Amino acid sequence: MKDRLLPDFHSHVLPGIDDGSRSTEESLRMLEMLRSQGISTVVATPHFDADRITIDDFLSRRERAFRVLSERVAEDVPTIKTGAEVSYYPGISRLERLYELCIGKTRLLLLEMPIGKWDKYVVDELVNLSSSRRIIPIVAHVERCLPYQERRFLEKISSSDVLFQINASFVINISTRRKALRLLKNGLVQLLGSDCHGAETRPPEIGEAYRIIADKLGEKFVTNMLEYGNSLIHF
Ligand SMILES: [Fe+2]
Repeated sequence: MKDRLLPDFHSHVLPGIDDGSRSTEESLRMLEMLRSQGISTVVATPHFDADRITIDDFLSRRERAFRVLSERVAEDVPTIKTGAEVSYYPGISRLERLYELCIGKTRLLLLEMPIGKWDKYVVDELVNLSSSRRIIPIVAHVERCLPYQERRFLEKISSSDVLFQINASFVINISTRRKALRLLKNGLVQLLGSDCHGAETRPPEIGEAYRIIADKLGEKFVTNMLEYGNSLIHF
């Protein structure tokens, strides 16, 4: 698994910017853990909440955290791509500079959707982000939202460009593993993230999740997953 160039689409690995890593040292430990688990690219997705911070302030804080960390990283640790975990609010699709919160130079936007039942407005806005704004939303830890959604809405989202990400813990946890594997197998979920917040608290365990997927769904399945994931963030 270690030479497989595995991507991690969701992490709080940048130091001192949100409720994730508290210091550069902790970030370095997290990156080393990710490296030892075979992760080649980690997307750093600090929380962005438009009610609490402006885009300019967020981007400058993220840039500073990224620079401080980059100066200290060893050569063989995963490549860090910057992004954000953007809190959804009704009307977010009208936010002019949304693309600045996307992953690297892509149009991929990690979006934290409300937990609870989404109404037609929310679903339409999610779908319209891709059709009208050319943003490709990735719904973060979608396992938290899926149980509440109507099938017709999920079908509408699935037939759009919107992507779904699940957390590694959803695969690892024995009580949810079967469900996670089914979602991956039927294609409703495409991407995996560690959603790691620290070296001790909520540490990265994504390598274990990929290993379980390979074990249960086959090596080829993981190969396809990582090729697809890498093609999204490296182009
Ligand atoms: Fe997160």
